Amino acid sequence: MKYKEIIDELTLEEKELLLTGGGALATAENKRVGIPKLTMSDGPHGVRRLLKHPNPDYEQICNIGGGDVCFPTASALGSSWNKELLYEIGSAIAVDCKEEGIDVLLSPGINMKRTPLCGRNFEYFSEDPILSAELGIAYVKGLQENGVGTSLKHFALNNQEIDRSSISVEVDERTLREYYLKAFELIVKNAKPMSVMCAYNKIGGIWCSENQWLLDYVLRKEWGFDGLIVSDWHAVHSPSKALAAGLDLQMPKNSRIAEELTYGLENGIITIEDIDRSVERILSFVYNLKSGEQILKQNQEKGTYPYDRNKQHNIAKKAALESITLLKNENNTLPISREEYKSIAIFGTYAEEPVIMGGGSSKVTVSEESIDKPLDYIKRYVGNQTQIIYESLFDKIASGMKIKQRIHNIAKEAELAIVFLANEPECEREGIDRDRLTFSEYMNEYTKEIGRVFKKMIVIMQTGSCTASNGWEHRADSILQMWYSGEGGGSAIAEILFGIENPSGKLSETFITRIRKDMDYPGDGTKVWYREGVFNGYRYYDKYQQDVWYPFGHGLSYTNFEYSDLQITPENSDNESQKVKVQFKIKNIGNRAGKEVPQLYVGKLDSIVLRPEKELQAFDKIFLLPGEEKILNFELNDRAFTYYNTYLRNWHVESGIYNIMIGASSQDIRLNGKYKVYWEKDYSGIMKNEALIL
Ligand code: GLC
Repeated sequence: MKYKEIIDELTLEEKELLLTGGGALATAENKRVGIPKLTMSDGPHGVRRLLKHPNPDYEQICNIGGGDVCFPTASALGSSWNKELLYEIGSAIAVDCKEEGIDVLLSPGINMKRTPLCGRNFEYFSEDPILSAELGIAYVKGLQENGVGTSLKHFALNNQEIDRSSISVEVDERTLREYYLKAFELIVKNAKPMSVMCAYNKIGGIWCSENQWLLDYVLRKEWGFDGLIVSDWHAVHSPSKALAAGLDLQMPKNSRIAEELTYGLENGIITIEDIDRSVERILSFVYNLKSGEQILKQNQEKGTYPYDRNKQHNIAKKAALESITLLKNENNTLPISREEYKSIAIFGTYAEEPVIMGGGSSKVTVSEESIDKPLDYIKRYVGNQTQIIYESLFDKIASGMKIKQRIHNIAKEAELAIVFLANEPECEREGIDRDRLTFSEYMNEYTKEIGRVFKKMIVIMQTGSCTASNGWEHRADSILQMWYSGEGGGSAIAEILFGIENPSGKLSETFITRIRKDMDYPGDGTKVWYREGVFNGYRYYDKYQQDVWYPFGHGLSYTNFEYSDLQITPENSDNESQKVKVQFKIKNIGNRAGKEVPQLYVGKLDSIVLRPEKELQAFDKIFLLPGEEKILNFELNDRAFTYYNTYLRNWHVESGIYNIMIGASSQDIRLNGKYKVYWEKDYSGIMKNEALIL
C-alpha cells in the first residue's frame, strides 16, 4: 500500500471523513496528518464559477477579469472532428483552472446521444463512440498533461434528463459494451482520466453508485482503471453499499458519512479493507495533483506567465471556426461578397444576444463584454459599403401582423436576409429534456415569412443539439449550424459568412425532422428499455434507409474535394493479429484552401448477427491548398471488425468479407473496398447451427 504510513496514522473516523467531500466542490483535508484538499469545478466548456448560490458552500469567486472563458460546448467541438484542437482546448481550460485555483475539472461528459431531446446533449460530443473517444482522449490529455485532473462522466447510460435520478435503464450487454460503454473504455485505456464519475440512474435495477459489476468488474478489473471513482452529486443512496461496490468518493459532503460507514462495518456490509482501499485511492488522487513538486512547480509558475484572456478568447474563437457546420449552400449564396448587396437584413435577437451555451451545472460565468456578437462583427466587416437593417423580431411578442408587415417593409429595401434562430439556454439544460424537436412556433412562422418575401435567405441555428425546421428549410438558400459556439462564435460566424474563413465542421450527430416512434423514450418513469440495441443515430438511419435531414458526418465547404486510389493491404487477413492498411488520396479541386474530414467506416456483408451497415472506425482532419493532394493512411486492428458476443461474453470476429468505406459523411461514401477476414477462433458456424445467434 503506497500510503501505508499515512493510512496507519489515521483513526477510523478520519478515514471515513476522507471518503466524502470536504464541502460541495472539494475533497476533505486532514490538518492533523497534513492531507491537503483538492478543489473541483464544473464546466466541460470552461471553468464554472458559481457566484451566487442559496448554499454558500457552493459559492466560488472568479479571479479572471472578464469572467471565465466560455469555449464551444462539446456538441460543437464534436463537430470539429479535430483531435489536435481538443488537446488545445483541454490545455487552455487548464490555464483557466490554474488561474482560478482549481485542481480537478469535472469533465468531459461523453454519454451517447440516444435522443436529440436530451437536455444535456450540448455537453456530449457525439452519437458515435469512436468520435467521442478520440476527441475525449485528446481533451483529457490536454487537461491532465497540464496539471489538472479530470472526471469522465456520467458512467453510465445517463442518456436522458427526464427521471435521471430514478430511472432504471434496461439494456442488453452487447448494446452496453459495443455502444454505450465503448467511449468510456477507450478513454480510460488511452488517456487514463484521474477519476470517473458514476451516473445517477440505475442499470438493470441497480444504482450506478452501487453497481459492482459496472464499477469494479468492468471499469477496474477488465479495463484496468486505477484512478478514483466519484459519485455524481447526491447520487449515493447507501454509503456502505456504494463503498462496497467500489465507489471511493461520495459527493457532495455527507456529514453523516462516519456513522453510516461505521454502521456498515458493524453490520458486515463493508470491511476495513474496503475503507483503506478507497482512502488509498483518495490519497493517490490528492498527491498526484498536490504533490510537493507539483505545488513547488505551481508556485514557481504562478505569475511567471501573466494570464492572457485575449489569447484564451482566440482559442475559443478558433474552436468555433472549426465547429460551425455548413449544411446547405445553394446558388452560391455563401460566402457573401460585400459588393453583392447594397443592404442586408439581419433578423433575430440572437444576432446581438447569441446563445453560446446551455443551462445547468456546466454554465460558465462569462461577462457580457467578453462575448462576440454576430451583429457587431457583421457590421464591422461590411463597414459603410452595405446597409445593415436589423430587426430583433423574436423577442417581440407583439401581434403577428405588425411583425409580418415589418418583414415585408424590410424586404423592399434588402434582397438578402440572414436569420438567427436558437434554442434558448433554459430550453437545453441539465435536469430537463426538450418536449419538441423543432424551433418554437413563432420562430418557424417568421422564418417561413422571411423566406417567402426575400430573394435570398440564410438561416443560422444556435443550438446544442439537432433542432428541426418546421416548414422553412426549402426556402433557405443556405443553412449554417452554429451550435452553442462559446464566446468567440459571434466573430467566427461573421468570418464564415463573408468567406474570410472556410467552414469545416461535420455533424457529430444525425439531424432528423421527426422523433423515432420505435424507441422507448423516456420510459415509464421507473424503467426505460433500450430495445433498439446498438441501432442509434446513423447506425439506425443508414441500416433501415430512414430519411434524415442531414446525415452524421455531413458538412459542406466553400471548396470541393476529390477522393481516389483506395488501396487495402493485405486484401485478406491470414492471422488474428493481422493489421490492415487503408490508403487513399484526397485532392482539393476547388479554388480556395479548406479542411476536409475523411471518415473510414467498416461493415460486415451478410453477417450472422444483426449489425449496423457501417460503423465509424477512423477519421482525420486535413488542410489542403487549392490543387493540393495528400495521401492518407489508416491502420485497422481486429477491434475494427469485432462485435460483442453475449454467449461467449467476449468480443468476437466473424470471418468473411467486410466493406471498407471512405466517406465525406456516413451517407456520402466516396471510395469502397473489400477486406477478407480470417478468424481462427470464429465460432459463428457452431453458434449458427445451434441457433445461438441473436
Ligand atoms: C451535477 C451533474 C454533474 C456535475 C455535478 C457537480 O448534478 O450531473 O455533471 O459535474 O453535479 O456539479
